Amino acid sequence: MLRKIAITAASVLALSGALSGAAFAAATGVQHIEDVAFSFEGPFGTFDEHQLQRGLQVYTEVCSACHGMKFVPIRSLSDDGGPNLPEDQVRVYATQFSAIDKDTGEEREAMPNDFFPKSALANAPDLSLMAKARAGFHGPYGSGINQFFRGIGGPEYIVSILTGYTGHEVEQAGSVFYENTAFAGGLISMPPPLSDDLVTYADGHEATTHNMAEDVAAFLMWAAEPHMMARKKAGFVAVLFLGLLTVLLYLTNKRLWAPHKGKKTA
Ligand code: HEC
Repeated sequence: MLRKIAITAASVLALSGALSGAAFAAATGVQHIEDVAFSFEGPFGTFDEHQLQRGLQVYTEVCSACHGMKFVPIRSLSDDGGPNLPEDQVRVYATQFSAIDKDTGEEREAMPNDFFPKSALANAPDLSLMAKARAGFHGPYGSGINQFFRGIGGPEYIVSILTGYTGHEVEQAGSVFYENTAFAGGLISMPPPLSDDLVTYADGHEATTHNMAEDVAAFLMWAAEPHMMARKKAGFVAVLFLGLLTVLLYLTNKRLWAPHKGKKTA
């Protein structure tokens, strides 16, 4: 019986794995998503504070010209497990944005308690949740198996978009589209935002297009899931606790039934 169940489970797994691969290929056409080994992957992965700080720099200097992050409070930049900036630095950082005061209704300099501004360009989507809104590794009909082994692939999708430009441009109905190997349909209206040495990193890290893409993707992952590290830690403790409970229950069970089982002497 147990063997039957195991075989069924194994074949279902294998089948759905194959199906999700097929669905992915069918739904995305020629989309190419690069697999990046981010520090926050796996059950014990953590955000790299320095990478998040570099990503914030790229977001601020490049992406925020068009995109907003209206669900992310500026003060979270000083959170533990995030970019972890000192609070006075966050206060200074906030002043480059403006916000509408709730009491007076007038525009003023933003403060840490305000949120990042919304997109400046109407057709540029908000990036607050983008790293979780897009999936690099499974199609819309995916069974989740691919996702289970490789992660959802949101940050990988962002890296692939930022580095996937072929340099080819097409004009359609008066607007310019840029060929991009990661974008569904192959033509995106976002002009290539990154080029080598576009920013100068304070920590001396080399600012290649690829490095900047990875850094900003990691930063956007943090923005979309700021408490990922706490969640993983809680999950680990829960698994440990349940494991211990299993052992204790097993031993209790054995002890309870000991007088009735296994003594076929009479
Ligand atoms: C010049 C303005 C501009 C800049 C700068 C810019 N973007 Fe965009 N971005 C756009 C527009 C417009 C779209 C919508 C593209 C479309 O749907 O064809 C977009 C779309 C996107 C998407 C979504 C693609 C999708 O699947 O819908 C991501 C992710 C993205 N941008 C990330 C970034 C990042 C990260 C940066 C900074 C490195 C950046 N963008 C800089 C204008 C910009």
